[in-house]
Amino acid sequence: MVTGACFANLGNEVICVDNDLRKVELLKKGKSPIYEPGLTEMVQANIREKRLFFSDSIALMVRRAEVIFVCVGTPPKDNGEADLTAVESVSREIARHMTTYRLVVDKSTVPVQTGEWVHRTIAANRRKNVSFDVASNPEFLREGSAVQDFLSPDRLVIGVESKRAEKILKELYRPLKAPILVTDIKSAELIKHASNSFLAAKISFINLVSRVCEAVGADVQKVAEGMGLDRRIDPKFLNAGIGFGGFCFPKDLSAFIRIGEKLGIEFGLLRKVLEINETQKAAFIEKIRKHLWNLKGKHIVILGLSFKPDTDDMRFAPSIDIINSLLKEGVHLRLYDPQAMPIAKKMFPKTTFARNPYEAAKGADALAILTEWPEFLEIDLARIKKILRHPIIFDGRNLYDRDKMKKMGFQYYGVGR
Ligand code: UGA
Repeated sequence: MVTGACFANLGNEVICVDNDLRKVELLKKGKSPIYEPGLTEMVQANIREKRLFFSDSIALMVRRAEVIFVCVGTPPKDNGEADLTAVESVSREIARHMTTYRLVVDKSTVPVQTGEWVHRTIAANRRKNVSFDVASNPEFLREGSAVQDFLSPDRLVIGVESKRAEKILKELYRPLKAPILVTDIKSAELIKHASNSFLAAKISFINLVSRVCEAVGADVQKVAEGMGLDRRIDPKFLNAGIGFGGFCFPKDLSAFIRIGEKLGIEFGLLRKVLEINETQKAAFIEKIRKHLWNLKGKHIVILGLSFKPDTDDMRFAPSIDIINSLLKEGVHLRLYDPQAMPIAKKMFPKTTFARNPYEAAKGADALAILTEWPEFLEIDLARIKKILRHPIIFDGRNLYDRDKMKKMGFQYYGVGR
């Protein structure tokens, strides 16, 4: 959706196709099925300008579009491997409807060598002599800032097998004025998995350091700052917390580990990254236990449910495991999130939800922050302190100034501070 809307915004005619009719109908009316800042406005503006269309027909799209981006899901199978059935089936469908040259660009996150399979699939299913190219164009958009990330990317990666494909893609992206790296298809595919794995490793690394900080009484934010000032390290993705979530890092790490296994390369490093991410959540629960003693029967408020701010996405959110553990221990929870509550209510139908942080905090034994929503920085903390039965805050995202919180009289426990 983001790619489609942004390409339309750059002046292209774009048809977004999905086999989920409900989504297609919603989008035709300019309504977004997900919460993503700036997206609804952009979709509506480009529908009005007659540059952005929605359909469930691959045939219609293939007839009209010279460049076809494949953005289908590649969910994890039970063994962690990416499920590529959707990539195969749309490749077949596209091939069947092609009557003239088409460039088929893979944007879905896929294992290296998928491009070769897509090429083979199209070649086997196309009408005779219809020419085509396959390319890989991994996306690096982050949920919550996807529109912004599309419009001002650090870099664009295009993996191609022909000059014609390279020229088309460069032309398409030219208005963004971003550095474009041209590679072979396999390298482009690997750049995506390697980048996400590397970023996840950075997070697990700092999370591990945060545990050392807690054990000895150092401050992980200062450690991260000191590390980040080294330009080779960079301060980004060095925020300690309760671990990474979302539909990208956990699944992409598992998929990359499986790729390694298939090639006879042991990715123990990445297994550790995932393991640290799991134990980081357990360490947070332990911290709560350490300061509240028995958890059974205690009332705890949870602020923040989405896997990161500015999205309603709860897939693989650390909050899910933390909430489940607390519920299992007999804790009474009250939950609040600015956007994710409709989704969370389906996941936790028996749990209480509040309309705002103050309603949530009423009479609770402690408050825990699991997502660093900017609106939590605006909370009237003096009011929260009065409302809570005990002024105890467990801050899983190091949102607040520790000294200020202590001065206000809170028992304040961040991560690695
Ligand atoms: C990630 C990548 O950052 C994107 O480049 C990529 O395109 C995307 O996956 C994808 O493969 O589609 P995303 O999952 O949307 O993007 O969000 P991130 O901002 O990367 O955050 C992922 C998780 O890491 C969140 O749970 C976040 O809270 C956590 N995180 C991030 C930390 O715990 N510490 C940090 O310093 C940074």
